[in-house]
Amino acid sequence: MHSFLSFTFLLVTLLASRAFALEINVGGTIGNVTAQQFLDINDETLTGACTPQCPTANTTVAACTTDACLCDPATVAAITTCEQCLFNTLIAKNIPMPDPRAGSATALTAYAAACLASVNITVPTSEITLTLPADWDGPFGQHLSLPATVITVIVATALASGCIYVVNTM
Ligand SMILES: *[C@@H]1O[C@H](CO)[C@@H](O)[C@H](O)[C@H]1NC(C)=O
Ligand SMILES: *[C@@H]1O[C@H](CO)[C@@H](O)[C@H](O)[C@H]1NC(C)=O
Ligand SMILES: *[C@@H]1O[C@H](CO)[C@@H](O)[C@H](O)[C@H]1NC(C)=O
Repeated sequence: MHSFLSFTFLLVTLLASRAFALEINVGGTIGNVTAQQFLDINDETLTGACTPQCPTANTTVAACTTDACLCDPATVAAITTCEQCLFNTLIAKNIPMPDPRAGSATALTAYAAACLASVNITVPTSEITLTLPADWDGPFGQHLSLPATVITVIVATALASGCIYVVNTM
């Protein structure tokens, strides 16, 4: 009985592994990747800084033989932990994203979308949310963030139209 169950399990695993390909559309220069390629980020600065987290996620992904395993909360949590570290490192070192997969909430969303499309597993948003590091010093650092830039442009435009208004009313 036991060996029959083991055999059945093996068969199921083998059958399942044949149709095993999560296609994750991360976009950018990378396009579609498999879960195994999802963390294949060639940037020593980043991967070096995330050494406990990312190899752990890599190992977890590599151990999976089904899409359902790849979309399992434990697997997704390991990947998010790695992405969170990459994200923190990008911010701490103030470097642009070298790859659309590095520290990216968008890439994680694409991963969840692939889970829904391939195995009808809805990955909860809470499992793929990246949070700002605690020591982040806000958008008023040396580089203007997008909102700050927008405000600057609006203020500049307002000042410029104000000048025209003054000239017009003279
Ligand atoms: C990437 O995957 C999506 C589905 O997830 C598919 O519609 C698209 O054609 C794929 N793109 C490439 C370049 O294979
Ligand atoms: C994950 O493993 C691949 C090789 O399988 C490696 O190229 C990649 O750098 C690893 N990713 C991370 C983030 O450690
Ligand atoms: C996907 O899963 C949901 C519940 O998790 C179910 O209601 C729905 O019918 C499933 N869709 C398919 C195509 O299997």
